[in-house]
Amino acid sequence: MIDLRSDTVTQPSQGMREAMVSAPVGDDVYGEDPTVNRLEEMVAEMTGKERGLFVPTGTMGNQLCLKALTEPGDEVIVGKKSHIFNYETGAPGVLSGVQLHTVDDRGGALNSMEVEMAVREKAYYLPKTSVVAQEQTHNKEGGRIVDLTHLISIARFAKEVGVSAHLDGARIWNAVVEADVSVKKYAELFDTVSLSLSKGLGAPIGSVLVGSTTVVAKAHKFRKIWGGGWRQAGILAAAGIYALENNIERLKEDHKKARSFYERIKSIDGIQVGDAPQTNILIFRLGNLDVKEVARQAAKENVMISAAFKDALRVVFHMDVSLSQAEEAAGVLSAVVTKLKNMQPAS
Ligand SMILES: Cc1ncc(COP(=O)(O)O)c(C=O)c1O
Repeated sequence: MIDLRSDTVTQPSQGMREAMVSAPVGDDVYGEDPTVNRLEEMVAEMTGKERGLFVPTGTMGNQLCLKALTEPGDEVIVGKKSHIFNYETGAPGVLSGVQLHTVDDRGGALNSMEVEMAVREKAYYLPKTSVVAQEQTHNKEGGRIVDLTHLISIARFAKEVGVSAHLDGARIWNAVVEADVSVKKYAELFDTVSLSLSKGLGAPIGSVLVGSTTVVAKAHKFRKIWGGGWRQAGILAAAGIYALENNIERLKEDHKKARSFYERIKSIDGIQVGDAPQTNILIFRLGNLDVKEVARQAAKENVMISAAFKDALRVVFHMDVSLSQAEEAAGVLSAVVTKLKNMQPAS
């Protein structure tokens, strides 16, 4: 099976499993797990932040950052296509009692003008704008990299108006290797960043959030309140350390696979695809073909594609798919689309 539904489907490699087995561990609620501590220090150091906190998921990373940066009744500015708005099951309302103010983020970057308009005046009868949150790379925009200059201007504006800035960096590593911008350079612009280990980096679980000592202390407290105080989590942190030490540079290979897939499908009649992918995600439309049917037919040919959107399919390239498998998958998709298109009555 060639599974292109997401980069979260990877299996831990042999080396990663060995690192997990031999990890020294302790009780992390007591702060005594040396491997968790090492991972948190490592990511804090890489990002130039005071402190890191290891959490099970990217969703928890984002939500703890929002919790730490807001008070109930506040407002958070996010992109209409952001993960926080679309795929975190309304968590900001449930967990932090905040409301989301969405702005246009076509192309990945938050629209600066809309962000400016969205910041509320300070008045007791208005919600307080507390955070502006950007995503890098942008999932629903096909893994697009948001330009550093744009991030700088968003961060500068946030500072000017006294609003915190959060970066959902679930796939920040893909931007780091492709745009050749260090993770520190990105992170210095934001008060908090949540970085995933379990996507392209191939760890089975985990994200690390980073920020100032004060902000991360608040997130730490709420991780416990939300039931996330874990014990010998070093077994999992060891996978994260292995991922950071071994799997960052190789993300470029995933981007190459995505581009090769794109080159093979871009001129197939029935497939509408925009620019070449910048990183490991490609989203394409299929005119009036039923996306779910195309995904079903491809699965019969051993290629799994995400029909996550009503009108588009998404493929994601990762370490458990080789370049030749990516090319084979492009051939399968092209054949399925051509077959279904030929079956349609002539208009
Ligand atoms: C951009 C982005 N942020 C956050 C997440 C959440 O990560 P998790 O699935 O670990 O909760 C995802 C997951 O795909 C994502 O794509």
